[in-house]
Amino acid sequence: MESKIKETLITEEALQARVKALGAELTERFKDSHPLVIAVLNGSFMFCADLMKNMTFPLEIQFVKASSYKNESVSDGNVSVTGFDLDVKDRDLIVIEDIVDSGNTLSKLTRYFDELGAKSVTTVVLLDKPSRRTVAFEPEYTGFVIDDKFVVGYGLDYAQFGRNLPYIGVVDLSKVDNL
Ligand code: IMP
Ligand code: MG
Repeated sequence: MESKIKETLITEEALQARVKALGAELTERFKDSHPLVIAVLNGSFMFCADLMKNMTFPLEIQFVKASSYKNESVSDGNVSVTGFDLDVKDRDLIVIEDIVDSGNTLSKLTRYFDELGAKSVTTVVLLDKPSRRTVAFEPEYTGFVIDDKFVVGYGLDYAQFGRNLPYIGVVDLSKVDNL
C-alpha cells in the first residue's frame, strides 16, 4: 500500500498537533453556544473524530453525506445532501469537511444550511487547495493549505484507497490507475 504513495505531505505528528490547536481555537469560540457539529462524510470521519476529542465543551454531532453530481471530471456545481434530519433553525453550526477543492461542495452546503435558518454556519476544513477554486469560497478554519496535488490518508481517498493511513500522502497516480 505504501508504495502507491510517492511522498508524505503531512506527518501523523503534524496532523495531531494542528488538530489539537484547531480544537482549542474552536473551544474558545464556541464553548458557550452549544453548537451543532455537522461532519461531511466520508472523507472527514477521521479528522472529525480527532477534532471532537479536542473540542471540550457541550455540542451535538450529526453526519451528512454530500455528493457532487459530476459531469466527467468537472463538477457541475450541484450538491445533494442526504442523511440529515435535524432542525438547524437558530443553531450555530460547525461544518467539518476534509478538503476544499473547487469550492462547490462547501459553498452549496453552507447556502443550504443558511436557507434552513441556521443562526451561523462556520466551516472547518483539514486541507485547502486554493489554486483549484472555481467558486469563491473561503473556509473560516483551515488545517493546512496545500498545492494542487491529489492526496489520500487520514480519511481522504482515491477510489476508496488510502482512507486508513494515519498521515496525508501524495498518490502516485501511475500506481493506482488499475485499482
Ligand atoms: P469541491 O466541491 O471541489 O471543493 O470538492 C471537495 C471534495 O473533492 C472533497 O470533499 C473530496 O471528496 C474531493 N477531493 C478533492 N481533492 C481531493 C484530494 O486531493 N484527495 C481526496 N479527495 C479530494
Ligand atoms: Mg468529501
